[in-house]
Amino acid sequence: MLKNDLLLRALAGESLTRPPVWMMRQAGRYLPDFMKLKAKYDFFTRCQTPELATEITVMPIDQIGTDAAILFSDILVIPQAMDIAVEMKDGVGPWLPNPIRAAKDVANVVVPDVTDRLHYVFEAIKQTKKVLDNRVPLIGFAGSPWTILCYAVQGQGSKNFDLAKSFCFSQPEAAHQLLQKITDTTIAYLKQKVAAGVDVVQLFDSWGGMLGEDDYQTFSWQYMQQIIDALKSKTKVIAFAKGCWFALPIMARSGVHALGIDWTCSARNARYLSGGQLTLQGNFDPARLLSPIPEIEKLARKMIDDFGVQNYIANLGHGILPNVPVDHAKAFVNAIKSYNS
Ligand code: CP3
Repeated sequence: MLKNDLLLRALAGESLTRPPVWMMRQAGRYLPDFMKLKAKYDFFTRCQTPELATEITVMPIDQIGTDAAILFSDILVIPQAMDIAVEMKDGVGPWLPNPIRAAKDVANVVVPDVTDRLHYVFEAIKQTKKVLDNRVPLIGFAGSPWTILCYAVQGQGSKNFDLAKSFCFSQPEAAHQLLQKITDTTIAYLKQKVAAGVDVVQLFDSWGGMLGEDDYQTFSWQYMQQIIDALKSKTKVIAFAKGCWFALPIMARSGVHALGIDWTCSARNARYLSGGQLTLQGNFDPARLLSPIPEIEKLARKMIDDFGVQNYIANLGHGILPNVPVDHAKAFVNAIKSYNS
């Protein structure tokens, strides 16, 4: 039994005295102990070595005191397992030397046996569960098929993912074939993550907001819905689609257990658009963690006032920034934990 099951209770819609809190991208990025490991081991070595992934996953639980752990890994292990090469370049970020640009490239993409290709992830989950010793739930995650396509086609990060969009709009058949292959791989992967011990899964649609409402439905949401349908009876599912406030009504009817909200959508709009009943997660502007501590505490309390304590998970509206001082992250988490006490 979990000693701290606040996250699971918020996802079940139970009545709580304060919301659970965790921070997207909390494992790594800003913690000095993480920086030391980063200097010693390259990115995919950290992902592929279960002992290192475990150590990084547990760091924010020991050092910041969040109510949930998120496994240290990356959304790009999926394209890698599908035989799309992915590198992580210093100062550039993800770098895919052979991006997908045509139907023949899609034909070479495999739907792998995930238990073989991604065994290191499932091993990391098992080791992390042991070290966590039921202190807090463990979140597993995957990127949305659309967000994975963005990297697979563009070949690197981008301000507008113009090549990814042009691929979808000029070669829709090939795009849908690729999206379906990513969806099938992701479903098998997340099912195995649940079997290995994660308590919750989150889908990151980081680049959903690049699409207009109709294209979002066509190129992103229909695939997210397949993943939710396949997972919702096996675990709790959180969907976070950055910049996609317009899709909240349809997302809220999908069977998902919670929706992530970014800071550009107010609590009031998010509650209204999602129908008022569903658990929502978010939406502190990550850059606001650079404000003076008293301001962070005030804004964190206001965020709970705005969303309400019930059906709510306190979080950032996107990943924590690398330059956030540790005491600022702690102040945010502690302000949430001391709400109502
Ligand atoms: O939440 C966590 O801390 C768990 C680990 C995690 C990482 N990536 C580790 C990582 C998670 C949940 C992700 C998800 C991820 N990866 C997303 C979705 C969330 C989001 O931020 O929108 C995306 C789009 C990626 C792709 C990716 N991986 C990018 C764009 C980069 C480079 C820049 C950066 O730091 O985000 C990465 C590399 C990456 N993934 C790092 C970490 C800690 C930094 C590189 C390093 O440590 O060497």
